[in-house]
This record gives sequence, C-alpha cells and structure tokens, in this order.
Amino acid sequence: MPILSPNTLEFFSHSPEQTRRVGIRLGSLLRPGQLICLEGELGSGKTTLVQGIAQGWGSADPVSSPTYVIINDYRHPEGTHLYHTDAYRLSGSALDIAVLDLPGMLERGAVVLEWADLIRTHLPAERLWIQMQYMALEQRHLVFTPRGKAYEAMCKELEKMIFGAS
Ligand SMILES: Nc1ncnc2c1ncn2[C@@H]1O[C@H](COP(=O)(O)OP(=O)(O)OP(=O)(O)O)[C@@H](O)[C@H]1O
Ligand SMILES: [Mg+2]
Repeated sequence: MPILSPNTLEFFSHSPEQTRRVGIRLGSLLRPGQLICLEGELGSGKTTLVQGIAQGWGSADPVSSPTYVIINDYRHPEGTHLYHTDAYRLSGSALDIAVLDLPGMLERGAVVLEWADLIRTHLPAERLWIQMQYMALEQRHLVFTPRGKAYEAMCKELEKMIFGAS
C-alpha cells in the first residue's frame, strides 16, 4: 500500500461499471489544459476508466484502446478536445511525437495518458496522477494524487461526488 498524502483520494472499485462511473464524474470536472496520468499494470482498468472520463467530459464517440493509433482525439461539441494516448503501445518516433506534442495538446484540450510512468520525466509538474491496482477479478484499488492547486480542487470535488458531502 502506498503512503497516502493528505490530498490523496482512495477508492475501491468492485466492477468495471463502477470504475466507468468514477470516470464519468472525473470527466465532468476535467477542463481544457488539464492532464490526467494513469499508472497500473496490464488489465488494471485504465482504459475502462478513460471510457467513463470521455463520456463525462462530453464526447459522443466511443473509446477504444489506442493500439493502432498514436492519439485518440475525442471532440467536444464546444470545439475543445480530449486526447487519449498510451505510452506502453507507442515506441520510437510515435512516442517522440506524443511527448513532443503534449504542450500543444494541452493548449487545445485535456489529455489522458495511460502508462504515464513510462514518460514521467517528460510530464509537467502539475497533474492528476491515478494509480490503479488489480486486487481481485472485479476489484481494483484506485489512488488519486493531485499535484497543483487546480488538481487538488478537482480531487476534493470528485470526493464529494463519490462519497457525498459530509
Ligand atoms: N473494477 C474494475 N474496474 C475496471 N476494470 C475491471 C474491473 N473489474 C474487471 N475489470 C476488467 O478488467 C479489464 C481492464 O481492462 P482495461 O483495458 O481497462 O485495462 P488497462 O489498464 O487499460 O490495460 P492495458 O495496460 O493493457 O492498457 C477489462 O476487461 C474490465 O472489464
Ligand atoms: Mg489500456
């Protein structure tokens, strides 16, 4: 178990649907210019969470794993973008393109990055980091660690949405 800082939010998911619902709530809080980093082993549920994030953010398009594309681009009716990419499935020049284009993507919209730990040194200091861990067949442990004031506020809002105001 990681040692949790005071701003950290912890959640146990008991099904893919529950992970998607948390994603929907997170996506509704996500704004252009913001970065969500996902870390967790194969099958820990990163893409499942992104499906919810894209839905909550307002994309009409379904989410797929970015296996054959470098970057998935979900457009919002208002003209902003949600970019979704996966550092594990990119290599060589494709990974370089994604890394180099990160500041540009953040100017045009929000970014969700699977396997962010593989390119940790290239990432801005302020971001929401989410660790996902396989616990059992349908159980996953999610730890949200915000870096920067905007992301701390985002986590506080998410906490209220998930657990209710108390
Ligand atoms: N509580 C849960 N949350 C999320 N996924 C779950 C949960 N329980 C079972 N699953 C299943 O685990 C799998 C997670 O796959 P997913 O593609 O989301 O993982 P991933 O972390 O993106 O993997 P990869 O590293 O290969 O990209 C799915 O088949 C999903 O249905
Ligand atoms: Mg995935």
